[in-house]
Amino acid sequence: MWNDLAPVGRYESSGGYRRFAYTAAELECRAWFRAEAQRRDLTVETDGNGNLWAWWGDRTAGDAIVTGSHLDSVPDGGAFDGPLGVVSAFAAIDAMRAAGDVPRRPIGVAAFAEEEGGRFGIACLGSRLLTGAIDPATAAALTDAEGNRLDESMAEAGLDPAGLGMDRVRLSQIAAYIELHIEQGRAQIDMDAPVALGTAIWPHGRWRMEFRGRADHAGTTRLEDRADPMLTYANTVLAARKKARLAGAVATVGRVFCTPNGTNAIPSRVTGWLDARSESQEALDQVVAEVETATRQRAERDGTEVTISRESFSAEVAFDESLRDRLAGVLGPVPLLATGAGHDAGILASAVPTAMLFVRNPTGISHSPAESAEIPDCLSGVEALTEVLRELAC
Ligand code: GLV
Ligand code: MN
Ligand code: MN
Ligand code: MN
Repeated sequence: MWNDLAPVGRYESSGGYRRFAYTAAELECRAWFRAEAQRRDLTVETDGNGNLWAWWGDRTAGDAIVTGSHLDSVPDGGAFDGPLGVVSAFAAIDAMRAAGDVPRRPIGVAAFAEEEGGRFGIACLGSRLLTGAIDPATAAALTDAEGNRLDESMAEAGLDPAGLGMDRVRLSQIAAYIELHIEQGRAQIDMDAPVALGTAIWPHGRWRMEFRGRADHAGTTRLEDRADPMLTYANTVLAARKKARLAGAVATVGRVFCTPNGTNAIPSRVTGWLDARSESQEALDQVVAEVETATRQRAERDGTEVTISRESFSAEVAFDESLRDRLAGVLGPVPLLATGAGHDAGILASAVPTAMLFVRNPTGISHSPAESAEIPDCLSGVEALTEVLRELAC
């Protein structure tokens, strides 16, 4: 099943994936999901928020244990971020069936829409909509880089955007959500463990920054006559790095648009996005406030204008302790891990007991074509997930 998914949305030039919500590559991933579910006689549905579900067992037999992750990717993402959780979910069901397990409650496999926010800008959009963390009108009006709206893009993909919004009934039918995910840093290498249990997700957010100046000629405009938004932007990138370092946080500017983007023209506008995260909410607030101050001071000096607005935010999440203890009881000695990466599990944690399993990443590299995982570690992940599903559902 992995081999069927592996080529979808993969770019030969970089080896990375571009599976953006409701684009052709992502629709192919959805078709793959449906085929894998049907092959196993699972009942497949797409909810009103574009999330995919596949059900094993009688839906009326009790509240479900749901596992899964996402199939979309960041630009030039790796193969494992997201798909490993979905593939492992199907593989765990296979293992349970092979062992003759008969669950006494339904087991669901979920693939949440637009987890990376790679197209419409807000991470975990499908799970945010499901849990009511974003209102449907705001979500419907989100646009991608070409100005396509989310609701129109869903409609083009054959989905009805009228169904967007919190789904209380669905949430009330879920007893627990377990997300297995490739670890996205180096933590497990040091722990020497193929599988770890998640404890928490750091608070993190995205800020959109508009720098406006005056377009002009690169050869004839004296330096002192310029209002160059690129200068203000560049200073903001350096400030973000410095303030984060001093506060014990991380800050990244990984996405930028320059208008008109001509080699021999001073730009009129630069749009950049700040991604900032920290273990401590206080440190995160401090970094963002200091970056804003540094940017405003610099803009004054450069004769430019700046607008900074928070586009999305996820407060710190602590996963359900009693669920985690129960999982630890099944898995035996297993290291505990907090992470600076966002996940649908972090959003769902506001509505249902939630836990995460991490699979060791031998290099720690993620959100990159170089992301990797060892097959034995992936198999350990499936084994752990199988044990967990058996414990919770049988
Ligand atoms: C998503 O993977 C994120 O943590 O940004
Ligand atoms: Mn990711
Ligand atoms: Mn992910
Ligand atoms: Mn993520």
